[in-house]
Amino acid sequence: MKDLEDLYGQTTERILVTCALPYVNNVPHLGNMVPILSADVYSRYLRLKEIPSIYICATDEHGTRTEMEASKKGVGEEEYCADLHRKMLEIFQWFHVDFDHFGRTSCEQNHQLTQSIFGALEKNGYVLDEENEQLYDLEAEMYLPDTYVTGTCPYCSNSEAQGDQCDVCGRLLDPLELISPKSKVSGATPEKRSTRHLFLRLDLLSPKIKSWLEAQEHWEGIIKNQPLGWIAEGMRPRAITRDLKWGVKVPREGFQDKVFYVWFDAPIGYIAATAEWAEKEGVVLEDWWKSEKSRVIHFLGKDNVPFHTIMWPATLIGSDQGWSLPY
Ligand code: 2FM
Ligand code: ZN
Repeated sequence: MKDLEDLYGQTTERILVTCALPYVNNVPHLGNMVPILSADVYSRYLRLKEIPSIYICATDEHGTRTEMEASKKGVGEEEYCADLHRKMLEIFQWFHVDFDHFGRTSCEQNHQLTQSIFGALEKNGYVLDEENEQLYDLEAEMYLPDTYVTGTCPYCSNSEAQGDQCDVCGRLLDPLELISPKSKVSGATPEKRSTRHLFLRLDLLSPKIKSWLEAQEHWEGIIKNQPLGWIAEGMRPRAITRDLKWGVKVPREGFQDKVFYVWFDAPIGYIAATAEWAEKEGVVLEDWWKSEKSRVIHFLGKDNVPFHTIMWPATLIGSDQGWSLPY
C-alpha cells in the first residue's frame, strides 16, 4: 500500500485501467496495440505490487462502419460483431494481453447505462433537441456519418481532415465545417439536408470541464493545453444522435429511427464492461466507478485525447451521477 500512497496520494485504494476500446472491425495493428500493450504492462506492474487493480477493455461495435461491413458480408450486425469480437480476443490472447474483462459495447449493460446517463443529462438540462443540417450522399442515399466525410480543415487547411477531427491540428470538427467535403462512400460531393438531432450542451458544461481540467495538476502538454485552448475559443453543443439503426436506441419521442452517436456510447462501455466483470466477481461496481478511493486511468492514442478530455468528462459531469472522471 505504501507505493500506492506515494504514487497516487493518500486515499487511493483501487486502480481501474482501460485502453482505448478497439473498433470491432479494425485488425489490431501497432497503432491500436500500443495503448493496449502499454496498459497491460502497467496493469502487470500494479498486480506485482499487489495494488488492487483491474484491466478492462471491450470492442467498440456501433456505428455506420459496422452496418456497412456486415451488409457487405451479407450477415446481420449482431452476428458480424460476435464473430469479430471472438477473433479479436484470440489475437489479444496470442499477445498474452491479460484483461480482467474483455466486453462489448453492444452488451445489454451498455444500452441500459447509455440510456440512463442520457436521461440524467436530459433531466439536468444539458440536452438540446434541434433540427440541424447534416451531409447527405445522394448517390449512396444516406446521411454521412462524420468519419465518412473528408475535406479541408477550416483551421489549419489540412486537405485530408476527417469529418469528426483533424489529425494535423487535433481539433474536433463538425463535417459541415469542412471546406470542399467529399463522401468516402461514393466520392460524391454531399449536400446539406435538415434532420432532427439531440445535442450535448458543451456550451453550458464548459465552465465545469474547465475547472476540472485546471485542477489536474499532474497533467501536462497537449492533454491539458489543447482542451483548455478549445474551451477558451468557446464550445458549441455537439450532436449525440445519428440517423442509423445499429446502436443504442434513443429513449425519446420522435427518435425511433435514430441511435446514439458511437462516441457517446463507446466510453460508457468502460463502465458497462466493468459492470459485467463486477457481476461475474460478485463485487460492487460503485467501488470502482463512484468512489473517491478509486482511480480510473485510460491509456489512449493522441487522436483520442479530445474525446476523453471534453466529450467523455462532459457526459460524466453533466449526468451528475457521481461517476469517476479520468485520472
Ligand atoms: O479510436 C478508436 O479506436 C475508438 N474505438 C476508441 C474508443 S475509446 C472509448 F471511448 F471507447
Ligand atoms: Zn486542422
